Amino acid sequence: MELNLTDKVAVVTGGSKGIGLAVAEALGREGARIVVGSRSETPQLADLRERYDVTFVPVDLARADGADLLIQAATDRHGRVDVLVNNVGAASPRASFLDIDDAEWERALNLTFLSAVRASRAALPHLLADGGGAIVNISSVNARLPFPTVVDYSAAKAALSNLTKALSEEFAPRGVRVNAVAPGPVRTPFWTDPGAFADAVAAGAGSTADEALNEVVPRQMGISTGRITEPHEVADLVVFLASPRAGNITGAEFLIDGGQIKTT
Ligand SMILES: NC(=O)c1ccc[n+]([C@@H]2O[C@H](COP(=O)([O-])OP(=O)(O)OC[C@H]3O[C@@H](n4cnc5c(N)ncnc54)[C@H](OP(=O)(O)O)[C@@H]3O)[C@@H](O)[C@H]2O)c1
Repeated sequence: MELNLTDKVAVVTGGSKGIGLAVAEALGREGARIVVGSRSETPQLADLRERYDVTFVPVDLARADGADLLIQAATDRHGRVDVLVNNVGAASPRASFLDIDDAEWERALNLTFLSAVRASRAALPHLLADGGGAIVNISSVNARLPFPTVVDYSAAKAALSNLTKALSEEFAPRGVRVNAVAPGPVRTPFWTDPGAFADAVAAGAGSTADEALNEVVPRQMGISTGRITEPHEVADLVVFLASPRAGNITGAEFLIDGGQIKTT
């Protein structure tokens, strides 16, 4: 399917690895010009820069000025913004709600929710001035399935899903569509980094991290397909939503969870 994204300028937050990297690659394949913001560049992102029109902007999106710096870098380089993918977010395994102090709540809300508020606020004037465009927010099944082990992250994702709807209402009449993608577990460093969720599940199940991801998580989480999601599968959905082919889709949230969420 021709997605009509050639030469569109797309900003991806947190695109040096995982889902963001896969989104940047999928956008690159479609001929878009991509601006990626993250704290550091990975070899995989450097490789992407060799193959596609990708600009890397080193930026800490947990800082209040991070999103402005990223959007400014995109407009300095390309003079416009057509697509914003609010992808950055992070979570840590939690033992109990009682262990999370104010500073940690603020950290979770800041990176996983406020970064998207700030990037959208910085990008929207450009999207509007350049004839419309699209924002895709990477939410999570945890927006509607709030696990106690990620209670702060779940609340931040619920806020992001809520923001998606509010922005879609305000800006659809002016040509900007805003949608969300809500993945279940996806095979990224979010899970596979040492000490991250695969290790935590493995410790509880007495398995290896690989077994945790491939067998324990799908079973424990009731994933109907029997497997977790791959980053490129999320990317394909994001790129479709970002494209003019999804021209009358706005204010929607799409699960990509292998059937984990059982309610309608
Ligand atoms: N993986 C899953 O199972 C899953 C499921 C549902 C939703 N999600 C959501 O999908 C999004 C991407 O997740 P992922 O699994 O791809 O995560 P990931 O593999 O941990 O990658 C996170 C990306 O964000 C960047 N990042 C982290 N902190 C940053 C900061 N302060 N400033 C700028 N960049 C920062 C990282 O680069 P640097 O470290 O270099 O900054 C990296 O590029 C997140 O919003 C996550 O909540 C993931």
